[in-house]
Amino acid sequence: MAIQRVKSKWAKTKVLLLSETLRERIPVTKRWQIQQLAAMLDEHGMVYVKPDQGTFGLGVVRVEKVSDAEYTYQSGTLLQRFPSFDKMASSLQSRIGSRAYLIQQGIPLLTYEGLRFDIRVMVQQNPSKQWETTGIIGRLGHPQKIVTNYHSGGVIMAFDQLMQPYMSPTQTDSYKIWMADIGASVALQLQTRYPRLKEIGIDVAIDESFRPWILEVNTLPDPYIFRKLNDKSMFRRIRRCCLAYGRRMK
Ligand SMILES: Nc1ncnc2c1ncn2[C@@H]1O[C@H](COP(=O)(O)OP(=O)(O)OP(=O)(O)O)[C@@H](O)[C@H]1O
Ligand SMILES: [Mg+2]
Repeated sequence: MAIQRVKSKWAKTKVLLLSETLRERIPVTKRWQIQQLAAMLDEHGMVYVKPDQGTFGLGVVRVEKVSDAEYTYQSGTLLQRFPSFDKMASSLQSRIGSRAYLIQQGIPLLTYEGLRFDIRVMVQQNPSKQWETTGIIGRLGHPQKIVTNYHSGGVIMAFDQLMQPYMSPTQTDSYKIWMADIGASVALQLQTRYPRLKEIGIDVAIDESFRPWILEVNTLPDPYIFRKLNDKSMFRRIRRCCLAYGRRMK
């Protein structure tokens, strides 16, 4: 049977929220609605607005309430300023049109040499049919952009290097074990609703107090980003799993 893919971020988020332990790792996420945007900006100051079925970071917008008289949003490299919530929201609404969009609590990402980064956690069914976290990799955002996606100019980097300014190598190793654990829990939880999943790629944001947040889960994760590291051991492990469940590899 075919490997299961699930496009809707909203559908996947709802399944994750059913888990008591994962719930606290998920930023507040709502369906697009102008009143909801106002409430979330008052609460969080910064939010991400994104297509329910987006990929590559396309259509992702970062919205900020600077003050009652200054709202901004950025998409791509263009930052726009507005003197009121209403002006900002109607501009955003005309951009979104009738497409399905989500609003998500914005997480202030850790930075490396001044650039934001997040991480991708690859979780796969291994040849013994157990969920295994096979890769953890960092993605450093392009200086002018609000997303870290490789396809939007993000740079792939080793997680250890990105964490070096913040943690000792031993602490980073424990952090990775923690991420691997969360990764396996996410897979198990999604599997309750999507039994034919074989692989997922979780986008995890780490905030300034080192708390991990699950931004989204991809069900067609790109294995080749792991080939960009000098150390090919993660990629080899990933490829072995892919071949075991029958994903074609280049
Ligand atoms: N709530 C958020 N807080 C901070 N940064 C975010 C948030 N949501 C998204 N981002 C940034 O934008 C990037 C793209 O968002 P997301 O992964 O949700 O959509 P996508 O990349 O278009 O989907 P896909 O990964 O399927 O291609 C994230 O990797 C992250 O860098
Ligand atoms: Mg993503």
